[in-house]
Amino acid sequence: MTETAPSRRLYIKTYGCQMNVYDSERMADVLRPLGYALTDEAEGADLVVLNTCHIREKATEKVYSELGQIKRMKARKEAAGGAMTVAVAGCVAQAEGAEIMARQPAVDLVVGPQAYHRLPELIARAHRASGERLAADFTADEKFDALPGERAPTGVTAFLTVQEGCDKFCTFCVVPYTRGAEYSRPAEAVLAEAEQLAAHGVREVTLLGQNVNAYAGEGGLAGLVRRLAQVPGLDRIRYTTSHPHDMDEALIAAHGEVEALMPYLHLPVQAGSDRVLRAMNRAHTAESYLRLVEKIRAARPDIAMSGDFIVGFPGESERDFEATLQLVSEIRYASAFSFKYSRRPGTPAAAMPGQVPDEVKDERLARLQALLSQQQVAFNDATVGRTVPVLLEKPGRHPGQVVGRSPYLQAVHLDAPESLIGEIRAVDILAASRGSLAGALSPSPRLEPA
Ligand code: 5AD
Ligand code: SF4
Repeated sequence: MTETAPSRRLYIKTYGCQMNVYDSERMADVLRPLGYALTDEAEGADLVVLNTCHIREKATEKVYSELGQIKRMKARKEAAGGAMTVAVAGCVAQAEGAEIMARQPAVDLVVGPQAYHRLPELIARAHRASGERLAADFTADEKFDALPGERAPTGVTAFLTVQEGCDKFCTFCVVPYTRGAEYSRPAEAVLAEAEQLAAHGVREVTLLGQNVNAYAGEGGLAGLVRRLAQVPGLDRIRYTTSHPHDMDEALIAAHGEVEALMPYLHLPVQAGSDRVLRAMNRAHTAESYLRLVEKIRAARPDIAMSGDFIVGFPGESERDFEATLQLVSEIRYASAFSFKYSRRPGTPAAAMPGQVPDEVKDERLARLQALLSQQQVAFNDATVGRTVPVLLEKPGRHPGQVVGRSPYLQAVHLDAPESLIGEIRAVDILAASRGSLAGALSPSPRLEPA
């Protein structure tokens, strides 16, 4: 195995159930291409991840006490001129994200179980905040070239990086400065890697890129998706993250025509006020985003929409914020990520007048998240009573249970033998919560038309 990037030490501590054990492995997988190798010792690690369990209050308290120790290790490393990034993942992160950051300032980032695919991005963001860059000694080509041949995926889903960098220069964002210009891997290299993954039993790939739909390889992203859909064994294709500006006709058409392309789209809008969108340099308006989603829904009516939002951008008034709530109400998101605006030195927005007080940001974030959370519940509730194809991915929390994903990226828990992992089965959806669905293998294998 060749090294792809300077080796960084990754320590993952896993609490709780089997599902967390699997998730920890997946986190190690997505971080490996960034040069992270697992270590057994938290002391001295470059990245510490606590994959937590929320089942009992005691389990949560254990996490806080562990964080106390890690805080001291982080201080020791910093005193010696080093740096340690501390991430809290898993169910505690999901349940009390903001509280963890408040209670333990040594924590750099909190990531819920639905967002592990964004871990590299979130970590890069935490690093950039301290002026550091991941895998800085390597050019994009070198990193990608080193990748094929060394992937031995352990699961039935995998991430496949196809694009890096960003030329959009949203005024709040550091990515264009730290990650540099947009770069796309050649389609042939992506296909070769996808074939290799499929040969190892991978049935679903998620194409990754900071601006993945700006993919500039042959045929654009739509062409790439169509070719990947031909790879034997590869039944499901997803991609993230997209910019509205690059959502072209060909890609929209692919959503209606390519069966393997899953009906889920992460399409950040950031805000709903045109005044704010202009100040953000987003190159779209609320209206153009709404029309775009309308077009996508015309091609694929059941598509689950996801987005990113920033509240408290400089100059954002109460009225501007209400325009964001209005846009959210119109779109009806299946899931979303929302953030308080955070001032990034060197970006244009950091120097803008009208910085919004933190209490106002907190209050707006809470209102936005309440609405998004309602929508997520409504979306999941609407699945109850349906029969959907579920890719069975890993053992569940209890013996005899497995967890899979619906086409809409919902986690589905059901009773099934582990021997079915890797298969796509018709599942009757019986119940829903905000974060997941419960179902049963359908007695009739017939699926609803997708
Ligand atoms: N402050 C808050 N959120 C930010 N994001 C990017 N930069 C900032 C910032 N300075 C969010 C955006 C982006 C996501 C990856 O992170 O919503 O889509
Ligand atoms: Fe690029 Fe996304 Fe950052 Fe905008 S928010 S500059 S599109 S990475």
